[in-house]
Amino acid sequence: MKGLILAAGHGTRLRPLTYTRPKPVIRVAGRPIIAYAVDNLTRVGVREIGVVVSPKTKEEVAAALNGEQSARFTFIVQEDPQGLAHAVRVARDWLGDDPFLMYLGDNLFENGIGDLVAAFQKEKPSAALALVEVKDPRQFGVAVVEDGRIVRLVEKPQEPPSNLAIAGVYAFTPEIHAMIEDLKPSARGEYEITDAIQKLIDAGKPVLGVRVQGWWKDTGRPADLLEANRLLLAQLEPRLEGTVEGGQVVGPVVIEAGARVKNSRVLGPALIAAGAVIEDAYVGPYTAVGPEAVVKDAEVEYSILEARSRLEGVSIHGSLLGVGAEVKRHDRRPRTPSLILGDLSRVEVPD
Ligand code: DAU
Repeated sequence: MKGLILAAGHGTRLRPLTYTRPKPVIRVAGRPIIAYAVDNLTRVGVREIGVVVSPKTKEEVAAALNGEQSARFTFIVQEDPQGLAHAVRVARDWLGDDPFLMYLGDNLFENGIGDLVAAFQKEKPSAALALVEVKDPRQFGVAVVEDGRIVRLVEKPQEPPSNLAIAGVYAFTPEIHAMIEDLKPSARGEYEITDAIQKLIDAGKPVLGVRVQGWWKDTGRPADLLEANRLLLAQLEPRLEGTVEGGQVVGPVVIEAGARVKNSRVLGPALIAAGAVIEDAYVGPYTAVGPEAVVKDAEVEYSILEARSRLEGVSIHGSLLGVGAEVKRHDRRPRTPSLILGDLSRVEVPD
């Protein structure tokens, strides 16, 4: 069985972070999001993975997977991301007539995808979809299930026919390709995989719905990234490979080799990546500090600090700092913030 990771979207809801870097390479709990997809695919025995990328995202996505030995990767360029079914069409030749697992590169699963694959292999349907019960299904594909079979699918309905959202992993037989061939774009102008699967159902083919056990996260928006970071950090095995001088490290904390923590308080779950420096600072729960980032005379909780970012003399919470971003205190007059913000950046200051 082959794996197909979709990583060619524009990531518009994560701007400005995605202006300079594709969403799948953003680090959550210390690893690029796409690395978790690779883990879950290889755990179910997939050794050949096609990664659908856009011309803009190709280089960085490939770099994020560089050194990953567990599978063989083929990068498939989707010039213009026109929908999930379009991505499968672009990968058609590479997929050949093999069954495959399609994995949305921005989705995270607590317990992997073993249940879905087991059900697909045991019951041999034409397709099997991971489903999750959600409070507000309007932002997802929604499934209606009868006796374990999906009987109807709708993409992002205003009036959802059920509370079962399609989570981002699908198992397909090659029968799906014929359904995609003459697919029409949806009202939002995309070639929807949900429409292609509906065609399978309409043709009388069995399509299974398999409930996801444990949490599932679509990391579309900044708040989702922080939540995913929290959930994944909570699973980390503590590890102390860097140096700690003075201060206190409490709870499940990973301090990678080459990281330095000095006169600081680190309260887990937290991760301090290789080469990061924490000095006279407080790093609180659910914080991932990226490689070579600096936190000095500062406080941070429930946040993601990307590589080489810098936090000096300030306290933040619930924040995302992109690669090389800096937040610093200044002592000049007037005592007002001085901001250099990229397009669509967001700063919230307290009263
Ligand atoms: O997250 C689950 C949802 O994912 C499902 O419930 C929906 O049924 C499904 O359509 C999808 O909806 P999204 O609106 O969240 O999909 P998004 O456009 O964010 O794309 C998902 C991933 O696929 C993302 O990593 C980018 C990639 N992608 C997307 C498109 C449209 C491609 O590689 N090529 C594309 O053409």
